[in-house]
Amino acid sequence: MHSVSNEIRFDGRVVVVTGAGAGLGRSHALGFAGRGARVVVNDLGGGGRGEGRSNEAADRVVAEILQAGGEAAANYDSVEDGASIIRTAMETFGRVDVVINNAGILRDASFAKMTPEDWDLIYKVHVYGAYSVTKAAWPIMSEQGFGRIVNTASAAGIYGNFGQANYACAKQGLVGLSNTLAIEGARKGINVNVVAPVAGSRLTETILPKAATEALKPGLVTPLVMCLCAESSEETGSLFEVGAGWISKLRWERTKGVCFSPSDTLSPERVRAAWDRIGDFTDADHPVSVQDTFGRIFDNLGIKL
Ligand code: NAI
Repeated sequence: MHSVSNEIRFDGRVVVVTGAGAGLGRSHALGFAGRGARVVVNDLGGGGRGEGRSNEAADRVVAEILQAGGEAAANYDSVEDGASIIRTAMETFGRVDVVINNAGILRDASFAKMTPEDWDLIYKVHVYGAYSVTKAAWPIMSEQGFGRIVNTASAAGIYGNFGQANYACAKQGLVGLSNTLAIEGARKGINVNVVAPVAGSRLTETILPKAATEALKPGLVTPLVMCLCAESSEETGSLFEVGAGWISKLRWERTKGVCFSPSDTLSPERVRAAWDRIGDFTDADHPVSVQDTFGRIFDNLGIKL
């Protein structure tokens, strides 16, 4: 048993969870509220492909939180209107400490069959939506010198997945956004991380067997998200895979590579001849910043930075 002082609490904190009317977002909203946070439950309440809207999804989760003795307010706007979502937090609770960018839809199709609408809508909800909500919260977090942001990616974004070119691009885009915001937020006390979850939900019930969707409880993802948002957490700029109770951290791995002399003429045949060494992961590096790239590049030129 942990003592009560070890408990991660969010008393006095205001947490905005997008897409919180169902699935993972609902689980996050209930989780934070259960630990004392005042929660903005945002959900457009539309279909899994982004069609329609309704107040029901957000209202249901707000009712659940209130019934359990917690504090919550609903917002029904699309994440594309981040300013409105953050306004709900400010007008109802007067602050914003945590943003969980979670809202999502799918428009799966093989790349050959993917329409421009499929491409644009996925970009708008996942990338522009996360940008828009974060952009509205950022000055408030900067001003108060504290913020926690968790963006929701996907294994499809990390590795690619058939039929998900739009979604994979958007999800990997969130990784780039998060890595940059982690750097820019460091001096302001704003930590930004990414989770790539697996959970049973409306989004996965069409592709996974029923037994699997029931077993993959969203509640097994939420504790990682809450841990990343704890006041005591120093984690930032990181990416985690999480599902079914498995939690793992990812990083880049880079081969030592081959240094051709920059004064030589480099031909494609010389590159091909070095192919095995270029791809040899023995004693690989684990770069974490653009300095790790420029260091190698300028080393090869013999220039000290
Ligand atoms: P879900 O469909 O159960 O929940 C998503 C919620 O987002 C819905 O309630 C929906 O109404 C809401 N939403 C959709 N578009 C919105 C918009 N424009 N503005 C506000 N709310 C909107 O799906 P699930 O599985 O809980 O997904 C949550 C996040 O996790 C998504 O970003 C998804 O891409 C991601 N994810 C989920 C995985 C899984 O295994 N369930 C796998 C990888 C990523």
